[in-house]
Amino acid sequence: MRIPLVDLASMHAEIAGEVERGFAELIASGAFVQGPQVSAFEAAFAAFSEVRHCVGVANGTDALELALRAVSVGHGDEVILPANTFIATAEAVARTGATPVLVDCDPDFLLIDVEAVASRIGPRTKAIVPVHLYGQAAPVEGLAGLADAAHVALIEDHAQSHGATRHGRAAGSLGLAAATSFYPGKNLGAYGDGGAVLTDSEGIAARVRALGNHGSTVRYQHPELGFNSRLDSMQAVVLSAKLARLATWNKARSAAAEQYSSLLAGMAGITLPRTMPGNTHVWHLYVIRFAGGTEQRDAVLAALHTAGVGAGIHYPVPVHLQGAFANLGQHRGDFPVAEQVADSMLSLPLFPHLSEEQIDHVVEVVASASA
Ligand SMILES: Cc1ncc(COP(=O)(O)O)c(C=O)c1O
Repeated sequence: MRIPLVDLASMHAEIAGEVERGFAELIASGAFVQGPQVSAFEAAFAAFSEVRHCVGVANGTDALELALRAVSVGHGDEVILPANTFIATAEAVARTGATPVLVDCDPDFLLIDVEAVASRIGPRTKAIVPVHLYGQAAPVEGLAGLADAAHVALIEDHAQSHGATRHGRAAGSLGLAAATSFYPGKNLGAYGDGGAVLTDSEGIAARVRALGNHGSTVRYQHPELGFNSRLDSMQAVVLSAKLARLATWNKARSAAAEQYSSLLAGMAGITLPRTMPGNTHVWHLYVIRFAGGTEQRDAVLAALHTAGVGAGIHYPVPVHLQGAFANLGQHRGDFPVAEQVADSMLSLPLFPHLSEEQIDHVVEVVASASA
């Protein structure tokens, strides 16, 4: 039984007809860039995310960079973010010219440590970027108080949390702006790269739209330098079709996560993922940890791969130990929780069409390899 980490084909099967019709219409119209499909998706995703504006961009990394630039983050500024995230969060900060200031995560939910953020706010802090990691929102209410008091922007990294909520409010609507990714494997994934900035602020939305369109609001007038970062009409066709199914697919992910948790509960040496009180989790990833550390994790990973199961590690190297951020001058030992998590974690297959039998099989392999 081969089980991928993510099965994109079964999602496509549900929307194939709609996508083919949408593509045919688009090809006939020729509006490949900034077509009506993009505005339709932006409006639908803004409504879904409970914000007034959604601006489609080329990918999630650009979305972060443009959102930060739109709130005037740049050279000389500092931006606080967690050390346990995908490199893009820190990369986007560095690309604005600002310095990433990393903090550790809490050991239970693996979300940004609010007290650590409080201790790192200083005169140069311009923004805080919590990451809604693995499908659940960071404790933004604690951060919002800090951000307000220090007059800094709260920009959510919403790449992994499409459809999640915190105390009933949609992830992506919890800060001044949010940046998201539609990378194919995300809960709402395109057929290529894509991303968006979400915000209630008309000013920020307009800034992101202009910056992503060569610094222009009037054709061939470029008062400032910008980028070419726009969501393709083709991706918008796919995203609209998938958005209509996202709530159902997120429920299926939840059911799969529940089945994993009930089967794995009580297995010696395995720590299960936990949902922070106040959160609705959308299970972008199901991440377990091994008391036996890297050795045990790697043995289980190898056994899963031998059995044809596509498990992964998200992410094996925290940001401060990446060569690209050697200039930050940080070392092993600086963020012990993030390091310990990176050394012992494993992501099991999780996608909406994962069957009960497939989950049983994955758990059997994990159980026999970790014993
Ligand atoms: C937490 C996080 N932030 C940012 C990104 C960057 O998104 P993209 O790959 O679309 O540039 C990703 C996904 O890849 C991510 O998982």
